This record gives sequence, C-alpha cells and structure tokens, in this order.
Amino acid sequence: MEKGEIVEKVILENKIKKLNPVQKEALRMGILEGENLVVSSPTSSGKTLLAELAGLNITLNKKQKMIYLCPLVALAREKYEDFKRKYQKYGIKVALSVGNYDSADPWLERFDWIIASNEKFDSLIRHEAPWIGEIGLIVADEIHLLDDPSRGPTLEILLTILKEILPRAQILAFSATIRNSEEIGEWLGAKVLKSNFRPVPLYKGIFFGGKIRLFGFKEYKLSEDLGLEESIVENTLLMKKQLIFFLSSRRNAEALAERLSKLVFHFLEEKEIEELKELAKKIENALEIPTEQCKKLAKCVEKGVAFYHSGILFSQRVLIEEAYKKGLIKVITSTTALAFGVNLPNFRAVIRDVKRYYPGLGSIYLPVLEVEQMFGRSGRPQFDKWGEGILVAKNREDARELENYYIRGELEEISSKISTESALRMHVLSLISNRFCKSQNQLLNFLKKTFFGKKFKEISILKEKIEEVIFALEDWGFIKTEEIKENGEVVDKKLMATRIGKRISQLYLDPASANLFIENLRDCQKANEFTIFCLISKAEEMKPSPSLSMKDAFLIEQEIFKNEEYFFFQIPDELDDEYEEFLREAKLATIFSFWIEEKTEGEIMEKLKMTPGELHSRIEILDWLLYSILEISKLIPFNEEIKKMLKKLRIRAYYGIKEELIPLVSLEGIGRVRARALFDAGLKTISDLKKASVEKITKVLKSKSLAEKIKEQIR
Ligand SMILES: Nc1ncnc2c1ncn2[C@@H]1O[C@H](COP(=O)(O)OP(=O)(O)OP(=O)(O)O)[C@@H](O)[C@H]1O
Ligand SMILES: [Mg+2]
Repeated sequence: MEKGEIVEKVILENKIKKLNPVQKEALRMGILEGENLVVSSPTSSGKTLLAELAGLNITLNKKQKMIYLCPLVALAREKYEDFKRKYQKYGIKVALSVGNYDSADPWLERFDWIIASNEKFDSLIRHEAPWIGEIGLIVADEIHLLDDPSRGPTLEILLTILKEILPRAQILAFSATIRNSEEIGEWLGAKVLKSNFRPVPLYKGIFFGGKIRLFGFKEYKLSEDLGLEESIVENTLLMKKQLIFFLSSRRNAEALAERLSKLVFHFLEEKEIEELKELAKKIENALEIPTEQCKKLAKCVEKGVAFYHSGILFSQRVLIEEAYKKGLIKVITSTTALAFGVNLPNFRAVIRDVKRYYPGLGSIYLPVLEVEQMFGRSGRPQFDKWGEGILVAKNREDARELENYYIRGELEEISSKISTESALRMHVLSLISNRFCKSQNQLLNFLKKTFFGKKFKEISILKEKIEEVIFALEDWGFIKTEEIKENGEVVDKKLMATRIGKRISQLYLDPASANLFIENLRDCQKANEFTIFCLISKAEEMKPSPSLSMKDAFLIEQEIFKNEEYFFFQIPDELDDEYEEFLREAKLATIFSFWIEEKTEGEIMEKLKMTPGELHSRIEILDWLLYSILEISKLIPFNEEIKKMLKKLRIRAYYGIKEELIPLVSLEGIGRVRARALFDAGLKTISDLKKASVEKITKVLKSKSLAEKIKEQIR
C-alpha cells in the first residue's frame, strides 16, 4: 500500500479531518520509512495514531508483525478493541495477550498486531516464543514508566533485549512530556519528536475552601452544605458532565464510590435508572456466586457510580467502561488502574489523594509526571471542548504547596530503576536462562546497553551488585559458573542456568522466593495448611504484609500457638526485630486459613479488616505461588505427603473450601457456596449426585438449568 494511501486510510478510520501537527511532524521525520522515534508530547495529542500508521506500513508492505507494549490491562484492551474495529477489514489480524505468565502462546503466530502488557511480553521471551523473529515494529507506549520502581525494570530490560535480538526492527516509544526525552532517544537509537501540542486545553487547579480555582481560567464556587467530594460531584453533574476521582488505594476508591452513590442517584433520569438496574444485575452476576465485592460494586453502579481498580473482574471492567462511555455511569473512583493512556469522557480528573504509600518509603507525594497523566485523562478531544484537572487541598498551606509543586513545578527527569535488588535478581537469572548472557562480561556488556548503562556511561556501580546476585544465584543452585582463564589469570566467568533455574525464570518467580520455598520444603516432613501459608507469606510477591493492630496480635498469636508443632521453620523470638514482621505474615496466613475454612468475606473483613478486593488479589497471588511450588516439586523431590497436601491446598485456596468439598468443585458451575449447599443436603460426592434426581438437585441449588447442567457433566 502506498504511503499516501496508508495516511488516507488512517484518517478515514479515525473519523478525523486531518493529521495534527505532531502526526505531520512524525511523517516528516520518517515514521513510514522505518525511522525510530521517541515521541514526547502532551496527553491526548494523538500518539496512538502513529502506531497505526507505522503498523499498517510494516504489516501490509513488509509482511511483518507489530508488537504494541502497554503498561495497563485497561489500556491494552482499549487498543485491542480499537485496532480491531478499525483495521480488521484490511486483513490485519489483531490479538490481545495479557495474563498467564507460564506459556509461550504459540497461537500468536497467526496474528499481525499483538497488544501485550510489558510483563506478559517479557514472559513470552522467557518461554522463547517462536514467532518473535517476525516482529518488524516495536511500540512502547507510556515509556516514562521506566521510572516506576515496580514496573520500570521489566520494560527497560525488555526493550534492551528486543534491540539486541531484533536489531532491524523499527522502534516507536511514546511518552508524556518529560524533561530528558533526548536521553531516551539516545538509548534507543531514535530521533526525538518533542511537542507541546494539545488539541483540547486542559486547565489545572486546586480545590480548597469550597472553591475550585483553575489557574489562568476561572473559579467555581461550590455548595457549602455538602461534603468536599460531594460538592465537586454536584457541581460537575449540574453541568451534565462526568468525572473521575483518583485515590491512593482500593479501599479508598470503594469507600468513596459508596458515599457518592447516595448523591449521584438524585441526578439520574427515569430511563437511566432502569438501564442501570439491568447493568447492576450483570455486574453482580459476573461470577456464579457473587462475592461481597461484586455486590458492593453492583449497588454503586445501580446509583450511577463505579469504583475501578485492578482487583475488579475483567468482564466487570468492560461493562463499567462501556457504560461510562455512554454517559450512564456518571462518576468513577479509581486507583492508578485508569491513570495512563485511556480515552474516557471525563470532563474532570480529580486527584483526591496526592500521596501514595510505597513499601519501604512510606507515604510520599506522587511524581509530577504521574499527576500530569491523571489530569490528562480529562479533556479528550472526542468528548469535550476543554478539560479540568483538580487537586484537593486540605488547608490553605497545603493549597499553596500543591500549587508550587504540581501546577508551577517542573517535571522530573526519568531515571532507571533496574539497580534495585529484586529487579536485578529476576532479570539476571532470566538473561542467563535465555542464553542472552553466557558470561559475566557479556552480562555487564548487556547492562551497558540498558538505559541505566547509557545514562551513567559506566556501570561500576552495578558491578558489585551483579557479583552479589551471581553469587546468590549460584549458591541457590539456579546457575553454574566456571572461571575462564587466560595465561593463568581469571578474565571472565561462564554463566549457565541449571534446569531448576531456567524453570524458575519461566515461572516469573523472584529467585529469592524460589529459594525460600526450596530451602524450607525440600526436607520438610511435617507441615500443615497454616504453616505453609506462613511460609508463602514470607515471599517478596506477598509484600507488603498487612498491618497489625493490638487486637489482631492477640488472635494471631493464638493461631500460631495452635499450630506450633507444625512449624518447620524457626519462629523468631518475641524480642527479635523480625518478630513483628513475622506476626504480620502470620496474619496473612490466618486470613488464608479462614478462607479455606469457608469463612465469608464479610467475616474476614470484620475479624481481620481485609477488604474483599484485597483478599481476592492476594488469593490470586497465592494460587500462582502454590502452582509454582508444585511445578518446582517436579524437579526437586518433596515429601510425598506434603506434596499431596499442597495439591489439595491449591484447590482449596482457589475456591475457599474445606477438604471435603474438593470433589464437588470439579463440576462446572459449582463454587464454594453451592458445593457447601449440596454437601449439607447429603450430596457429598459425584456418585451421590449421580444417584440423586434432577428435582432433588434443583431443590438444593434453586436452579433447574444448573441441576441439568450438572447431570450432563456426570453422565
Ligand atoms: N488528527 C486528529 N484529529 C482529531 N482527533 C484526533 C487526531 N488524532 C487523534 N485523535 C483523537 O484523539 C484522541 C486521543 O488520542 P490518543 O489516545 O492517541 O492520545 P495520546 O497522545 O496517546 O494521549 P496519552 O498520552 O494520554 O496516552 C483519540 O480519541 C483520537 O481518536
Ligand atoms: Mg496514549
């Protein structure tokens, strides 16, 4: 396809009149000639369209694949739906690949454009997905997240690897306006396109003392007889606009949504109330048996408000996004799960919590860059003439500080975060496993090619840390090393992953956690569910541990005492520094134990103050770690009894059930609540169900279709 034709098609499919200045500049700089580009421009300046241009060129003219890397699932899904809708008709096959990190996904071979999260793509490389060589275009969206301590290192290592294995592939990196885009360009070997163009103005301001003051624009006076958030919502809804609140935690997002729903409800029209009722039903019934969280979300949605965070089911997120786009849901309260890239009809983005908790650092101010990104979710060109980004101040002094820091302040520089210990452990093992780095010198050379290496020119700072990591990995049995000598002098060290080391890298486990599991379980002869949970709660993946109150401590010490004889590792002494952390880990173990004892989410919340949202995301990690431990046990023999218990435990933890319900949950449509109902009605096994009549099962489950479905499965 001719270049002119590609541009025409993209304009047509985006339903726009013409390219904007950023897009024209990208064409001029050679985006359709395979030029590498770092594009640093404001939110909503149409960067996605650049990927579409280059993607069509690569696939239609060169018959190669585009990989589009996204930091958020919500964003990946938006791009996937969007690209499919626009370009499937030109024969472009679009795939979405998120979730399940233990697979090479060979099915992706058939697709032309693959949208993936950074972590998922990193895992595909660990599994040596065979189609990677067919990639001709790499798009890294939101590349300023290199700076993020938890997500940055994966992206940085991933891009360094991709540059190595696909030296001819075109790279496009999109970023918000940042200070040092030139440095990123230099690292990626890319030209830098910098622009301040934003198609729709975005006014920034501060809420304080009953007023929203937007700098260089106007002031809104809000109702004084309402709560702070309520008054902002009322003011927005009176203008018939929608808004999103950003909060620091899931718990805060849920609590605010519940509160606001009481107000928003009064703004709904008759017809909307009907539609929202239907929607709430769908949201409540997303699972066979609704969880507490499903019920809570449904209740809010019924009144026109939704909370949104990464603990919410995929299908529910889709429903929320669609209803918000239709204007049916009026307000969203969100964590950072919607902070980047997404296009939603927010007129206002309100940042209520400007501080966030970081493990090890405490509660600190969000980076200016991140606040810019959140603001940027409002005033998207297809929805509004302008947008408003608002920070909430507590008092006059706070207002002044926020103004200086966020409104008048400078954006931070992006820096590399790969030198953190856990990031190095994970990625060094992966680089050795993949044979990208076969020796220590090669490893150091590779690290010179990362953003870190380019920025600091020399990596002596890293060298020592790397040596420590290599020493630990060898000590744990995950790699083997061999000195390489020249004229009797050691010049390098050969690095080879062992079988177990390679598997651990594929399982996407922190090697330190893998070692923790192996060391403690290899010779373990006696354990029970609680002590296994205590071990798992020590892993990095489960951090930070839940906080502890005096009341908790009493209950948890009782639990520890009850299980004392099953501890297969040393319990720290009460006077030791580690004791408090141990109690917090044991608290998590207690919560898991309650869960498999079939306590309800409500009871767990009441007794140990863990919200259903957090509980379920912890259970997801628990399932992953139990799976990994079982995979490890295939390579390292564990005691057979313990292995049997672990297998059962994985099922029990997944469903939240006592052991006696295991046979029943193997049936489709049967979870913890229904299995319990069947069991208590005397239908305890599959053969009991075989003998029982459809009528009897219907009576227990209160659903004839489900009873028939069960009968079909066991016929
Ligand atoms: N030339 C154009 N004219 C009008 N609208 C456009 C044009 N290009 C893109 N758009 C629209 O602008 C909206 C924002 O685009 P996009 O999501 O690509 O922004 P972005 O630069 O990636 O922003 P962010 O940094 O927030 O991710 C989209 O809805 C898109 O359809
Ligand atoms: Mg974008």
